[in-house]
Amino acid sequence: MTGVRIAPSILSADFARLADDVAMMEEGGADWVHVDVMDGRFVPNLTFGAKVIETVRRLTSLPLDCHLMVVEPERYFEDFVAAGASGLTIHAEVAPHLHRQLARIRELGARAGVALNPSTQLAAVEAVLPELDLLLIMSVNPGYGGQQFISGTIDRIARARQMLDAAGSGAALEVDGGINRDTIVPCWRAGADAFVAGNAVFSAADPRAEIGSLRAACVERA
Ligand code: DX5
Ligand code: ZN
Repeated sequence: MTGVRIAPSILSADFARLADDVAMMEEGGADWVHVDVMDGRFVPNLTFGAKVIETVRRLTSLPLDCHLMVVEPERYFEDFVAAGASGLTIHAEVAPHLHRQLARIRELGARAGVALNPSTQLAAVEAVLPELDLLLIMSVNPGYGGQQFISGTIDRIARARQMLDAAGSGAALEVDGGINRDTIVPCWRAGADAFVAGNAVFSAADPRAEIGSLRAACVERA
């Protein structure tokens, strides 16, 4: 089952029971904890920042995969890494100095990622592939959990996989939005290897088991 990384999103967690939900992720075999930071500007919704990253850091030793849906993301790099972020993924749509921004994230000791909205061309990251530890293909328009997977994402994943392989990049290829036991399979087949799941895990009858079911769906239907 190597090569499949499942990253449940705490956006769908019950914040009154955050410690229990993070423990559930660990017990379920999650590879990363996905942390959705939203600023009410890049996306309409507003979530949380360094304080919550620091809280989750104390609850688990799993890598914290922080997805910055914020304008001027560089304002937060230092605080978030100091709070315990393992990786920072910034949106190309609001990062005009991607090369410098990715270099800064790595300099701080974190994994550098770029996210692309469903309507953003893959070419937006072509020039920075050597600087990239993770490419995140959004399969919904970011802002909310529980949205429906956009089917055109599959072709984008396949093309992103080709682009990374052609460049000899070892970057993770992550997909985020509407991932469930059905949608994860074509994403995996198209070459994605990291999967964010919010609603699918937290609305499952057995959230802990659902993490394993998502992973198994890739392997069984490979
Ligand atoms: C969407 C966020 C996602 C979200 C995924 O804007 O970036 O990470 O939590 O939630 P689901 O899996 O419910 O679509
Ligand atoms: Zn996300």
